[in-house]
Amino acid sequence: MSDKPGLYRDLARQLASLIAGEPDRTANAANMAALIYHGLPDLNWAGFYFTQGSELVLGPFQGQPACVRIPWGSGVCGGAAASAQSVLVPDVHEFPGHIACDPVSRSELVVPLIENGRVTGVLDLDSPKLARFDDEDRAGCEHLVAVFLRR
Ligand code: SME
Repeated sequence: MSDKPGLYRDLARQLASLIAGEPDRTANAANMAALIYHGLPDLNWAGFYFTQGSELVLGPFQGQPACVRIPWGSGVCGGAAASAQSVLVPDVHEFPGHIACDPVSRSELVVPLIENGRVTGVLDLDSPKLARFDDEDRAGCEHLVAVFLRR
């Protein structure tokens, strides 16, 4: 991909206009998952998990059906939630505790949703390509999450 930052800027503009004036979190998350899934190359899953007590529970997504509940701290998503940090996994086979929802997934990027100092969920992207995500994807997805949370 030649101009990744440019692609993420376009996606951020489209996301902002998709969610403008709409307060419904589920509707906005569903449109954001669809925008990302169809707008970024080489993905097999894009979507959300939302915090419920000590678990993450599946939210709107695009891709194959996925595990519904992830304990806080487990897998890539639970780790990103517990640390309140984005997690980039170049090869999921090398990540201890990775939760394999779709055996096709080879690399993964998870960005936490942080509101008032609390992790309220995560955005999760999976790819069938090894090392699909880099620092530009992390920065781009963190910006998309910020737009989603209207920060
Ligand atoms: N692989 C994730 C689980 C969610 S699915 O990829 C959609 C993890 O280890 O947390």
